[in-house]
Amino acid sequence: MISDLVKNISPFYVMDILEEANRLEASGKEVFHFEVGEPDFSTPAEICAAAVKSIDDGFTKYSSSLGIEKLRNAIADDYKRTYGVQVSHERVIITIGSSPALLMSMLTILDPGDEIIITDPYYACYPQIISVARGVSKKVAIHEEDGYQIDIKLLKKSINSKTKAILVNSPSNPTGTLLEKETMQKVCDLGQLIISDEIYHGLVYGKKENTILEFTDNAIVVSGFSKLYSMTGWRLGYMIVPPNLVRYVQKLQQNLFISANPFVQMAGVEALEKIKIKSGDIAKLFNERRVAMLEALKSIGFEFSYEPMGAFYIFVNSSRFSKDSYKFAFDILENTGVAVTPGIDFSERGNDYLRFSYATSIDSIKSGIEKLGKYLS
Ligand SMILES: Cc1ncc(COP(=O)(O)O)c(C=O)c1O
Repeated sequence: MISDLVKNISPFYVMDILEEANRLEASGKEVFHFEVGEPDFSTPAEICAAAVKSIDDGFTKYSSSLGIEKLRNAIADDYKRTYGVQVSHERVIITIGSSPALLMSMLTILDPGDEIIITDPYYACYPQIISVARGVSKKVAIHEEDGYQIDIKLLKKSINSKTKAILVNSPSNPTGTLLEKETMQKVCDLGQLIISDEIYHGLVYGKKENTILEFTDNAIVVSGFSKLYSMTGWRLGYMIVPPNLVRYVQKLQQNLFISANPFVQMAGVEALEKIKIKSGDIAKLFNERRVAMLEALKSIGFEFSYEPMGAFYIFVNSSRFSKDSYKFAFDILENTGVAVTPGIDFSERGNDYLRFSYATSIDSIKSGIEKLGKYLS
């Protein structure tokens, strides 16, 4: 009765930790949330007001399956303004978050057994999304000592007749790495379709991120509003696809999701037109938290040979303490109230690692890591 697909799908381990952390918190225990992948601040008031106004204005029915034109145009304008790339709004498709955008990308290009190359460690859901679309994840290891940059020779070797695309994610979850411009160019020069997950764009510190569209048109961009605008629960994302794929994605959207929520789409217009301007302040805040987290982790004896430059994560080797990241994360939580994500979520090689999110206050970072330090020593 239960499909093999569902039987074989891995859980998203971070949710196990989050649920336990929430249970402990509800029972009165102090919990430090370094596990969650979402900003701690509320969605900006202007965005909320735009959604409410749009409900009053009647944006409460299905929209076009491709999305409301005003938002598609605003996204095209944003790519022009931010990266200098010209994108027709006709290539922009609005989705219910970047997760469905990833799923529709895979469903659009994969036949059973086709391969998608992903760098390892990877965002936990990639292999699952690929297998739901009956594809196979081909993992190419990236290493801390290389700053988690891609080894192009290794990447090239992993391409074969089954390869349908290379999936890149810069800035990355779980490492926070920003791909170098030259690396992005070399990845594109391999001539494969690139799927570029740009969900952490805007959250970059001291450097500038690049969209894949600066290097190639043979790409599907997947992105959304969850992270930069603290809109995780709103479920709003988008894809920018090559013109020949628009109709295929549209057919999927019509059948699977019909359309994204229209008043949420109108809130997205407000986010791009008003809040994007202030996004430097958001990045500045996250940078302060990043520095605080790196210093705090170093002060309790963690060592790392790379510096995360984007998103709000650091992937830390914890093999000195444990080789079982899942058990270790639960030990830490039960004994200190510090919630972290086990590295096993992001790689079969990830048991030596923990992911710390710094999407929380500096006070919480300082107190939580101090508690962790006392426990570990
Ligand atoms: C790399 C990456 N891609 C995609 C997503 C999904 O984001 P959403 O579906 O909220 O847009 C996440 C969420 O954590 C992520 O880290």
